[in-house]
Amino acid sequence: MNAKRLMGAAAATAMALGLAACAGGGAGSTTDESAGPADTSAATGDVLVGVAMPTETSERWIADGNAVEAGLQDLGYQVDLQYAGDDIPTQAQQIDTMILNGADVLIIAAIDGTALTAQLQAAADAGIPVISYDRLIRDSGNVDFYVTFDNYKVGVQQATSLLVGLGILNEDGTEGDATGPFNVELFAGSLDDNNAYFFWNGAIDTLQPYFDDGTLVVPSGQMDIEQAATLRWQQETAQKRMEDLLTANYSSGTQVDGVLSPYDGLSRGIITALQNAGYAGTVADGFPVVTGQDAEIASVKFIADGVQFATIFKDTRKLAAQSITVAEAYLSGAEPEANDTTTYDNGVKVVPSYLLESDIVYADNITSLLVDSGYWTADEVASGVAG
Ligand code: GAL
Repeated sequence: MNAKRLMGAAAATAMALGLAACAGGGAGSTTDESAGPADTSAATGDVLVGVAMPTETSERWIADGNAVEAGLQDLGYQVDLQYAGDDIPTQAQQIDTMILNGADVLIIAAIDGTALTAQLQAAADAGIPVISYDRLIRDSGNVDFYVTFDNYKVGVQQATSLLVGLGILNEDGTEGDATGPFNVELFAGSLDDNNAYFFWNGAIDTLQPYFDDGTLVVPSGQMDIEQAATLRWQQETAQKRMEDLLTANYSSGTQVDGVLSPYDGLSRGIITALQNAGYAGTVADGFPVVTGQDAEIASVKFIADGVQFATIFKDTRKLAAQSITVAEAYLSGAEPEANDTTTYDNGVKVVPSYLLESDIVYADNITSLLVDSGYWTADEVASGVAG
């Protein structure tokens, strides 16, 4: 019985958790000084945490998976970490298997936030708490907790970085010298991912005054999220759409000044399309301002080189650590601490959430945000390759 095992493990884990919590530096941190967790692994080793991640094609999810796995293992837990290759039935089946194998807690980053209702019912029937990781699982009352970033604010930051790149705003938020009008195109994420709407809404609310006063113009006229969406966040899909936009709207000499992109993978596809169409050099030379998200290493190098203008850094180590804190709370029979109990309505209930903060990365703060924090090394930034 999972519920029983949970409570049984509680006392045994309490000591380990107290010690491990002192580390506090993120789930991926080393535990050289942590005799505590190692000593108690016989007790916690009975506990299995299922971790379902969407895909390995994006390095952020690999970082997330590794950080969650390492942090849980440091505490002595067994971990079943699975990636689903962005295939919905595969992810459903992986979660079914975790439940059958007696998982005590599930941490799930869903591919399609609406496709896991049956799995979550089975988890609830077996008394297994479900933590929705980064992306909200929708249409189910059996989601216990949500760990994520302030996704609306991420969208605000994406739009802000576009405005800064165009010179409409300065990095410090004050008004810049540029007045436009500027030609921009808009991209959104995958509409089966609840986050896509939050990023889009935050961005459009920020850009709307500039559309209204004519500072920003969208030559394609494609200003609805459905038109801007990119199924499964695929780079090739974004590249293809950008190529089509260029052919249809920019062949008579009209220039693109900026592109709102909500994810680095899409940004790289958009940049390829722009380069193939003859845009060259850096933003300082007039290359269009392209935004992003996730601080993926290839894009961080692009930013260092002046080709991509900005990205949003969401520290996956902090998200992983937060998911572990929540898992530990459930394993010890406690209610995890939420810092938002109003925003994330999944269609059935408002899911208690813990939101983390994100930062805009520009060329001039790569070192302070990403290198000094150990997220990427200076060599990785220089080469654009992880590891
Ligand atoms: C979103 C996530 C973003 C980005 C995107 C594509 O759900 O919040 O950070 O990773 O998926 O993977």
